[in-house]
Amino acid sequence: MSGVVTQAVREQMENASWIRRMFEAGLELKAQVGAENVYDFSLGNPDVPAPAATREVLREMAERVVKPLGLGYCPNAGLPATRAALARRLSAEQEVEVGAEHVVVTCGAAGGLTSFFRAVLDPGDEVVVPAPYFVEYGAYCSHFGGVLRPVASRAPEFQLDVAALMAAVGPATRVVLINSPNNPAGCIYTAATLAELAEALAVVNRGRARPIFLVSDEPYRALAYDGAVVPPVLPLSPYTVVVGSFSKSLALAGERVGYLLANPAMPEVETLLGAVAMTSRTLGFVNAPVIGQVLVEKLINEQVDMAVYDARRREMAWVLREAGINFTMPQGAFYFFPEAPGGDDLAFVNALQRENILAVPGRGFGYAGYFRLSFSVELAAISASAAGFKRAAGR
Ligand SMILES: Cc1ncc(COP(=O)(O)O)c(C=O)c1O
Repeated sequence: MSGVVTQAVREQMENASWIRRMFEAGLELKAQVGAENVYDFSLGNPDVPAPAATREVLREMAERVVKPLGLGYCPNAGLPATRAALARRLSAEQEVEVGAEHVVVTCGAAGGLTSFFRAVLDPGDEVVVPAPYFVEYGAYCSHFGGVLRPVASRAPEFQLDVAALMAAVGPATRVVLINSPNNPAGCIYTAATLAELAEALAVVNRGRARPIFLVSDEPYRALAYDGAVVPPVLPLSPYTVVVGSFSKSLALAGERVGYLLANPAMPEVETLLGAVAMTSRTLGFVNAPVIGQVLVEKLINEQVDMAVYDARRREMAWVLREAGINFTMPQGAFYFFPEAPGGDDLAFVNALQRENILAVPGRGFGYAGYFRLSFSVELAAISASAAGFKRAAGR
C-alpha cells in the first residue's frame, strides 16, 4: 500500500510498459559495454531529421516571438491558420470536404485520444482494439474509467479480423479504436476490411442512443512505403473520428502537435468538437504549443526524407532473412513485428539482449510470440547487428 499515489497508478507503475523496461535494460547495457556497441531497436523516437524548411520557419518566428503575445495562450482548439491548413490537408487525405471548424489541434495524437476519451467515456465503457496495439491506449482509457478490450488480429499480416472485433462489441462498447499504419505490426488496413467494419458498426448503431465511434489513430499516415496509400475512414460512417500528428512525419515528436478531426456528417458534431476543445483545456493541455502549430501550418505539405526510412526497412528485412526469422514486410510506420524463433518472445528478446540487441517482446503489445523492432535507427547499426541476430536465432 502506497501512501502517496493511488492504487490504480501504483499498479500502472508496477506493470511499467515493456518498452520502458527495455529502455532501462538498454541504459544499463550501454553503461557496461558502451552505447556504440548496443543495437537499440526498442524505441520509436523518430530520428530522421525535420525537413530543411523547418529552419526558415523558425528564423521567421524569432521575430514574432518577441512581440506582445508572440507566445501567449491561443484558442483552445488551435490557431485559426493551423486549423485551416489542417482542414485542407485532411479533406484531401480523407476524401471528404471538412472545414477548419471540424479540426481541433491537440498535444500530439496522444493528447487527442486522451481528450476524446475524456469527452465520450463513462466509467465501464469499453474500447475495442485490435491486437497487437500501442500499449498506452490502456492508460488513456482507464484514466476515465474506460476499459480496453483487445481482440487478436490474425498473424502474420495482422489485418483486421472484423468477425472477431464484432464478436467483442456489446452494450458496453463505446469506441472501436484502430491504428493504421500500425504500431507495432507495420500493416495498413485495407479499404475492404475498413468498409466491412464500418458497415457492421452501422448495423449495431441503428437505434442506439449512445453511438459507437470508429476512431482511426493515424500518426504514421505519411510513413507508407512502395506507394501505399492509407485508405480514409471518413467516407465510411458518420461516427468516424481521425486522430493524428506530425510527431513522425515532420520529426516533431517533442513539440507535441497533433489533431482530432470529427466527421462533419456526424449528428451533434459541434457538441463533440466543443467538448474535445474543452477537455483538452481542462485536462491541463490548455492549447497545443504555439511554435509547433506554426511549424505545422507552414510545413503542412512537407515531410521527412522517406528514402532514409525505406533504406533502413530493406536493410532490416535483409538482416532478418539472413537470420532465418519469419516476418511480414511492413507497409508503413517504422516497425517490424517478426515471429520469435522458438515461439517464446521473452526468451528470444533475452537472447537478443545477450548479443547487445534491444527489442520489445510482443506481449508488451498484447500479442505474445512476436517481437517489435523499431528501425528508427542508423542504417550502419542495422547492418552491424546482423551477426548478433543470426547467433540469437541459432544460425
Ligand atoms: C500508435 C500510436 N498512437 C499514438 C502515438 C502518440 O503519438 P504523438 O507523439 O502524436 O502523441 C504513438 C506514438 O508513438 C503511436 O505509436
